Amino acid sequence: MSSDPRPRLRSAGNRQGLPPALWGSRFLRACRGEPVEATPVWLMRQAGRYLPSYRALRTRHSFLALCRNPQACAEAALTARAFLEVDASIVFSDILLVLEALGVPLSFAGDGPQLRPLADAAAIAGLRDPLQAAADLGFVAEAVRATVAGSPPDIPCIGFAGAPFTLAAYALEGGASRGFLRTKRFLYAEPVAWQQLCERLSACVSALICAQVAAGAACVQFFDSWAGTLSRADYAEYALPYLQRCVQAVPPGIAVIVFATGSTHLLELLAESGADVVGVDSGPDLLSAWQRLPPGLAVQGNLDPAWLLAPWNLLRARTRELLDRVRGRAGHIANLGHGVLKDTDPWQARAWVRYVHEATRR
Ligand code: CP3
Repeated sequence: MSSDPRPRLRSAGNRQGLPPALWGSRFLRACRGEPVEATPVWLMRQAGRYLPSYRALRTRHSFLALCRNPQACAEAALTARAFLEVDASIVFSDILLVLEALGVPLSFAGDGPQLRPLADAAAIAGLRDPLQAAADLGFVAEAVRATVAGSPPDIPCIGFAGAPFTLAAYALEGGASRGFLRTKRFLYAEPVAWQQLCERLSACVSALICAQVAAGAACVQFFDSWAGTLSRADYAEYALPYLQRCVQAVPPGIAVIVFATGSTHLLELLAESGADVVGVDSGPDLLSAWQRLPPGLAVQGNLDPAWLLAPWNLLRARTRELLDRVRGRAGHIANLGHGVLKDTDPWQARAWVRYVHEATRR
């Protein structure tokens, strides 16, 4: 286990002016590792295309227009939250908006996002000022404000951003990638330009997250979706320092979740980010993953999203097993190991949420 001089539980003991109902909500209590009367649950990507209400909203707005419309964002987030009866909402937005604001053209025209890849160090030097870019993303904080305004008093709204490594990789690859070879070649060959890129991203992400907290986000999650492509040593050297910077920028009292995909080899490093909660993907056994983390940290996860496509009896049995593995330990937030899949039956997702609450009620 790594030695970490940071005080544990950065979210403990400092209410940041959060109303009592929110501070005492079972979601935030679980983030702080406190006992709860039933395990809180939410789904990554809970407001998405598997929901008819979301698809209806998308007939009226393109994806990017939706992201820039705070009222429509709140509608997407609140409708999904209320339908699923989950313990938190997540602001409707996207991690890639930061890149667009920094001057990397972005479109969602085809299959998945497309960016104009950063070609070289000169392109990085030419990116826009990070604080100006964050200021241009004011509609994200407005979406948080509208979501909080429409939420029940004990339901926190999670703010989020991409972690600098994942954003840098998107900017260099221009979209999804198999081997991340452009990214790896660049960070090995051009360490100074890599540092410059990640520092800009950290500054922009930090400012964006602080704006979301100021607008009422009671918890934030950093998505390091592509972290798993790096070895442990490379993650520690080229990615973790920038994630740490973002976590440190979050006001004390606000719970921080870090999540990375394909990250079984990185769990201890993710804990070193300073987060209160480590998101565990579907790879490892949840209890074994938890036992590798310093005492007091909470965990989120880690049902394979494909299980929501399985026959209900099997899904229920698998969920029971997962919950039994961590029974009696405070600080578990039930979630999937990655985002909810497009083919998911919304009613099965809702039944799963209900089952987690029922099976864990004390
Ligand atoms: O409820 C929610 O979680 C909605 C908010 C949200 C979205 N994207 C909306 C979205 C969140 C938290 C994200 C995070 C995000 N975006 C990540 C990190 C999570 C992860 O999956 O690892 C990443 C890598 C992205 C980038 C991105 N945005 C991709 C790869 C795609 C296309 C793939 C896909 O699932 O469609 C998007 C588009 C996107 N972001 C959609 C939504 C609802 C679908 C857009 C549409 O067609 O309507």
